[in-house]
Amino acid sequence: MAQEITLCREIRFTTEGGASAGASGNSFAGNPISHHFSPVLILRVGLLGRMDAGTGMLMNIRQVDQNVRGNLLPAIRQYAGDLTAAAILQHLWPIAAPGFMPAKLQSLEIAASPWLQHRIVYGDRAMIELTERFEFSAAHRLHSPQLTDQENADLFGKCNNPHGHGHNYELEVTVCGPIGADGTIIPPATFHEIINRLVINRMDHKNLNVQLAEFRALNPTVENIAANIFQTLSSAFAPPVRLKRVRLWETPKTSCQIEAAAAGSNGENQ
Ligand code: NI
Repeated sequence: MAQEITLCREIRFTTEGGASAGASGNSFAGNPISHHFSPVLILRVGLLGRMDAGTGMLMNIRQVDQNVRGNLLPAIRQYAGDLTAAAILQHLWPIAAPGFMPAKLQSLEIAASPWLQHRIVYGDRAMIELTERFEFSAAHRLHSPQLTDQENADLFGKCNNPHGHGHNYELEVTVCGPIGADGTIIPPATFHEIINRLVINRMDHKNLNVQLAEFRALNPTVENIAANIFQTLSSAFAPPVRLKRVRLWETPKTSCQIEAAAAGSNGENQ
């Protein structure tokens, strides 16, 4: 029996109906046609299944697109004005799953912008993941007090410059929780207030080695900064909302990701 694998498909769309809702609105080129001024949204589908030896496919992406365009996008358009992204995802799941069979629907994600995604995953559909990306700029110097000056210079090279250097950091925070009475996992303003107060205001436009007490004796590598942010945020959210993941990019090429230990499982309730 072949191993189970995951197939992901991204469908770009607008909430505009009419001609742009049809197949011609998003061919394999992937760009939706919009007659009026309509923001482009993204729906990402994750499917789990086994590859067919004859076709080499888990599922024909035409079938994926057909289910999304035929069943899911009309539902999204219907709900868009009234429901939150988290609530829409919960409505979409039972509509979506049958159309992907025999593949198993593993995840559905709506990206409202490049910086904001909501995701629902197989297993615990009562929980929604919210991921948002933030930015801050900071200066640092890589220097370990446990090493000699020469060892530091050899190890960190120009990152050991005594006068420091800067990065535009990008921080992605993922929290998960059930949908509250207001339709959100956490009110967006509350989420931003927590991130701003505990991370951005503390680190943005600062010299981390000099201005943050925690990095006077601790080398502010991307790993240590991510760990500091993870630690700071791990108790910042009122249960049942919990921190799931922190990912910090120091440059587009270097990032550090820290994942929370899995919470007590509620079991599979698919
Ligand atoms: Ni650096």
